[in-house]
Amino acid sequence: MKKLNVFLTRPIPDEGIKMLKRERDIRLEIKKDLPMPRKELLKAVKGRDVVWTILTDRVDAEFFDAAGENLKLVVNYAIGFDNIDLEEARKRGLIVANSPAAEIAESVAEHAIAMMFALSRRLVESDAFTRAGKYHGWEPNLLLGTDIIGKTLGIIGAGQIGGMIARRLRDGFGLKILYNDVKRNPKFEREHKAQYRSKLQLLKESDFVTLHVPLLDSTRHLISTKELKAMKKTAFLINTARGPVVDELALTKALEKNEIAGAGLDVFECEPLIDCNPNDTHALRRMKNILLTPHTASASIEARQAMSRESAKNILAFLKGKKIPHRIV
Ligand code: GLV
Repeated sequence: MKKLNVFLTRPIPDEGIKMLKRERDIRLEIKKDLPMPRKELLKAVKGRDVVWTILTDRVDAEFFDAAGENLKLVVNYAIGFDNIDLEEARKRGLIVANSPAAEIAESVAEHAIAMMFALSRRLVESDAFTRAGKYHGWEPNLLLGTDIIGKTLGIIGAGQIGGMIARRLRDGFGLKILYNDVKRNPKFEREHKAQYRSKLQLLKESDFVTLHVPLLDSTRHLISTKELKAMKKTAFLINTARGPVVDELALTKALEKNEIAGAGLDVFECEPLIDCNPNDTHALRRMKNILLTPHTASASIEARQAMSRESAKNILAFLKGKKIPHRIV
């Protein structure tokens, strides 16, 4: 039997790789160079049966043409799949799968919670202040933050990640949980004693707003000027979902005018740029009331190994003619 020709576009944590390497009928090639320019990627995918992509690989008609007619399966090493043209894949009869796992949701939930604490207790500012040798003695008003206990959390997107955040913050810190989604979710309400609100009402009432929606046409700029104006002046916005869900220019203005207290961003509208402005003015980076991380919300060993295993399971199922566990298309 001809071996299944699998190409992985970037080295990833190894557990899924080991699973494939145990199979005699798989020939796995991994690109060692980091990062691979587009032209090289298109050359490298030629003739593959399976391409194992990461979320920064644009998988579109050009990619499918470059891979050629052997291509049957694209597996994304990510939960999100907004880098893949699903319609185009469908038209061509290709299978597309992703790699969700509880560990990933857990990791993103922890990151979002960490951002809430870091912002409300001004941890980054406090660290910079202390390192700079500015601490000369206890002061009653030095770097005052706010507590989390008893506050109201607004979750936009009532999925697995939102649920994990709700459970931990309600049980651990007594937060009141509000949520918004395209439709009401009785299970989410029951499990987390969460109350449904319209988006604007949720923004009005929440002290922390955390976003957990996929990037779709309907969620692009879900948070823009009107939404930011609805938020409390003392509230924090956390985005660990996808950059374009927040209108970054509107957010920059709201932060400049102190219309909200701060923001934690793990994802950016023009990623990997931190600022969409072509002159790269880095307004976001200059702000004090903001915490930035480089798309690392799922960057725990546990999560990234789980993603590795879950994506490998798709490929093994395909090899054995079984149902693909995380099939999207
Ligand atoms: C990370 O952002 C993912 O979609 O897995």
